[in-house]
Amino acid sequence: MAPSDVTPGTQPGDQPQPGNQPQLADLPLREELRGQHAYGAPQLTVANQLNTNENPYAPAEVIMTELADKVRHLDPSLNRYPDRDATQLRADLAAYVSRQTGVEVGPGQVWAANGSNEVLQQLLQAFGGPGRRAMGFTPSYSMHPILCAGTQTEFLSVARREDEDFQLDVAAALAEMERARPDIVFVTTPNNPTGNVTPLDDLRQIIQAAAGIVIVDEAYAEFTDFPSACTLLAEFPTKLVVSRTMSKAFDFAGGRLGYFVASPAFVEAVMLVRLPYHLSSLTQTAARVALRHSAETLKTVDILRGERDRVLSELRRLGYRTIQSHANFIFFGRFQDSPAVWQEFLDRQVLIRDVGVPGWLRASVGLPAENDHFIRAAGELRRTVLTEQ
Ligand SMILES: Cc1ncc(COP(=O)(O)O)c(C=O)c1O
Repeated sequence: MAPSDVTPGTQPGDQPQPGNQPQLADLPLREELRGQHAYGAPQLTVANQLNTNENPYAPAEVIMTELADKVRHLDPSLNRYPDRDATQLRADLAAYVSRQTGVEVGPGQVWAANGSNEVLQQLLQAFGGPGRRAMGFTPSYSMHPILCAGTQTEFLSVARREDEDFQLDVAAALAEMERARPDIVFVTTPNNPTGNVTPLDDLRQIIQAAAGIVIVDEAYAEFTDFPSACTLLAEFPTKLVVSRTMSKAFDFAGGRLGYFVASPAFVEAVMLVRLPYHLSSLTQTAARVALRHSAETLKTVDILRGERDRVLSELRRLGYRTIQSHANFIFFGRFQDSPAVWQEFLDRQVLIRDVGVPGWLRASVGLPAENDHFIRAAGELRRTVLTEQ
């Protein structure tokens, strides 16, 4: 893992232990966790924070006012456990997905948890585990293999083609799926960190070939015009799960709300492994308020898409290599020493992300002024940091 992809102060042995407190190495930890680092982008206070792909716009005033009012009126029920099955929230999510994708989705097809990371973990608990294997097309979202490790699911990686802008290599994918017969296949589209999409025809081929289930991670769906994999749900009811989140376009990363869309049987499956009452009343209430104002919030997505295209063309003009992005971040390079370039940006008050792909860095699209600052820093650095393209 790249040095910048590890949370400072969370390395095993780094934590100061007062007196004669035991070290992590003294504990009877599971063998495969020994020597591992806690995952996470550094949470540094920097003027221009372009490292974790959130929506940079603060939630609208009307949302905060309504949220405060709803929380104020939770008093008759906050002493009780929340609705374990988040029924009303799932109905609201189903209505939103139906509107956003054009695919009619019912509440029984939607499941919600604390961020899509929890959704993915629950799917791995139900469909992965010891003796089972998952496959992903890398570079991609680095939590997929980490969630696999946590559930003792073997993770197999098939490389995307760097010479083809990191497009998923469908022929290689099909060959490897035939050979390894994974129980779970992950396809992230738009892909993090590269930003490119996997078209529906390629997805269809992968799902057709899958022996087990296919999880299409659509965390950035709202930033692209490509149709959602939800379009394929009716065709593959026993194989396809589409995972989504309110952390990105929705301006709700702090609220922690992810969900999946699939056949109702998949909802039954995760109910076998979820913790009871996993989604607090506060989360359910806040997410419903955010969903009620989706039209308002998603206006910022149009602005961010415009800013993304502006930053992309500026980087190209400066001589950087970029991947055409359909998300709210940009993968750019190529660098001899990406960690050193990451530090150069940080020294100029721009926090971006080194996801550990040699030669490349990722920058989130921020507010226009933050993007200006980023472009200025990229302009200052280009002569010293660019390798032969
Ligand atoms: C592709 C992808 N999937 C899932 C997530 C997890 O998002 P959350 O747990 O906030 O819903 C992220 C976050 O960066 C992501 O990039």
